[in-house]
Parts: sequence; C-alpha cells; structure tokens
Amino acid sequence: MANKSIYVTQPSLAPLKDVIPYLERIWETGIMTHNGPLMQQLEKELSDYLGVSDVVCLVNGTCALQLAIRALDLKGEIITTPFTFIATSNIIAWERCRPVFVDIDPDTWNIDPDKIEERITEKTSAILPVHVFSAPCNIRRIEQIAKKFDLKVIYDAAHAMCVNYNGKSIMSYGDVSCTSFHATKLFNTCEGGACITNDEELAERIRRMRFFGFNERKEIVADGMNAKMTEISAGLGLANLRHLDYVRKNRQKKYEIYRSILAGCTFINFQKYYPDEYNYSYMPVLFDSEKTLLQTIEKLNAENVFPKRYFYPALHDTPIFDDITLPMAESIAKTILCLPLYDSLNEEDITKICEVILQV
Ligand SMILES: Cc1ncc(COP(=O)(O)O)c(C=O)c1O
Repeated sequence: MANKSIYVTQPSLAPLKDVIPYLERIWETGIMTHNGPLMQQLEKELSDYLGVSDVVCLVNGTCALQLAIRALDLKGEIITTPFTFIATSNIIAWERCRPVFVDIDPDTWNIDPDKIEERITEKTSAILPVHVFSAPCNIRRIEQIAKKFDLKVIYDAAHAMCVNYNGKSIMSYGDVSCTSFHATKLFNTCEGGACITNDEELAERIRRMRFFGFNERKEIVADGMNAKMTEISAGLGLANLRHLDYVRKNRQKKYEIYRSILAGCTFINFQKYYPDEYNYSYMPVLFDSEKTLLQTIEKLNAENVFPKRYFYPALHDTPIFDDITLPMAESIAKTILCLPLYDSLNEEDITKICEVILQV
C-alpha cells in the first residue's frame, strides 16, 4: 500500500517555532531544572486547564504512580486491573505491595466494580484503577467501595488527558490521579508525568519526595528521591499545551473516519465510550478471535502498516504475576489491536488500512 511505514503512533508536537522561545529562555537564564520557572508555569497552566488545585510535574508517569503510593504510605495489597501497561502493576510490586487483579468490564475494558469487593481482604490498602484508552472507570461505584472499606484510590490516568467526567476533569477524582506525558500520549513533554490532586498537603509531600526530601526553604525534612521534570521538558509541554485542543479534535476526526468505514465489519467491535468522556488518543479494535487478529496483522504488515497488540498479554497472565484466572481480561487481551492513529495520518491512509481489514 504505502512506501512509507505507518506505525501505531507518532508524537503530537507543536510547531518548532513555538518551542524555540522556551528554549531561548533556558539559554538566557541558565536554569535547566530544580523547580525552574518553566516547570512552575507548566504546573500553573495545567492546574488551570484541568481545574484542580495541584499538579506536581515529574520525570515520568511511572514515577508519578510510585510517589503516589509512597506519599499515601500504602502497604499490603492494592486492587488493580490486569488490562493495562506493565508500569501500573510493576510499580505496585516495586513499592513492595502486592497487586491483586480484578477482572474487567466487557464493554469499557476497565476494572469491573462488581468484582472488586470479593478481592478485598484485611490487607487491602487501596484501589488503583486505570482509565483504559481514556474511557472513564465507573468512578461513582469505585468511590462507594473505597468509602465502605476505608481504602485510598489512585487513578492511573496515563491515557486520560482532556477527559471530563460528570462535568469536571477526570484527573480531579480519587485521592490522586497519576498521568504520563510520554511522547506517545495525547499531551507530551517527551518523557514526563504528573500527580494531580486537590489535597494540598498530599501534593506538598510529593513535591518534597521528588526533590530529595527538601522543603521550599531547602531544608531536609523527609526522605526523597530525584524525580524532577527538566526545564526542556516543561518548555516543550508549554508549547504543546497551546495545541492540545487542536490535537484532540484532529484525532477525534480520524477516529470517526475509522469508525464509519469499519462500522459494517462483522468481526470487529469497539470500546464503549461517551463522546465528551473520551479523548480519541487510541484506535483500539476488538476482533472476534485471535486467529482473525493475527491474520489482520499479517496482511497489514505486508502493506508496511504496523498496528500494536496493546495490552497483551493481560498482566495476571504473565510469569511475574501469575495470579488467578480472569476470563474477560484474557479474552480481550488476546483479541485487541490498536490501529495507527496520530495527527499527521491522512484520510487516504486510514481508508487503505480499513480496506485491508475488510478484506481479511
Ligand atoms: C496505563 C499506563 N500507566 C502508566 C504508564 C507509565 O508512564 P511512563 O511511560 O510515562 O512512565 C503508561 C505509559 O505508557 C501507561 O500507558
């Protein structure tokens, strides 16, 4: 089909001319990191954009999850989903807690709230759900369960920039939401991430932890690490933030083209979502069988198109976590495929990708 290769994603980048003024400021001030002015500006602009009290910018989304677990002093077992990127459960284990997997909902592919209570024990300290591909978890039910069992809630909102839930940013729910600003995300700072919370005291603790345990007066008041966002990342983030609404709309348009062409396809299904509560950063499709999925990948690869099996396998089904049988997560992980979706992907390429799929 194409001479050029088409990969599953490409970074959304502001025009270079919009990034350069931020780089010039770094060259002028000589400040490259350490709670610098660009990072402070990015935190302020993001908290206004999201309507939350605190955004703590960090070196990546994995670190955001790690510091959230630490700052909430979680121990024992953390209830989570097996249908996510490995970072979510790895960091739970890295922090010496046990990830306890719960099966997922067949429509939203997020943690199934009806199955959470049966996995809670006296060792459970928190629930860590993921808004997969930006579709919101059942936040209302999760909040009820957390309240009933006195559990903390950390949302992994790595996919969920620009998503609202009940009229406010999805990032404002839970004790804290953790997000990723990785190059592949809707909003990126190359590498980067953030903890987002309305709990100012918690935000302060995370700020100290990211900066070796220093407080604002540079006194050592806690233990900590180095998880600061650099000024170069923050400058890129400020430029990208100006283009974010365009990026989201552009992806929505492309997502809808895929949906309209693939609408009649008998062996494909889609994630359930509501238009205001979705950011269209991924184009996940669910096949009726793994066999059809593998045939499709082969046909697309032959045309230089490289979709991605994402997330595969389900994490409870891996040698590191080998936990229990969770049929829905296993079935969805085996039959899910993310098709190419990014700003510069053109309509003609989408049409051709769909034609290949329809001929499988
Ligand atoms: C669901 C989810 N959680 C966590 C992460 C980790 O984020 P980062 O790559 O910024 O460390 C990712 C990253 O891709 C992710 O998709």
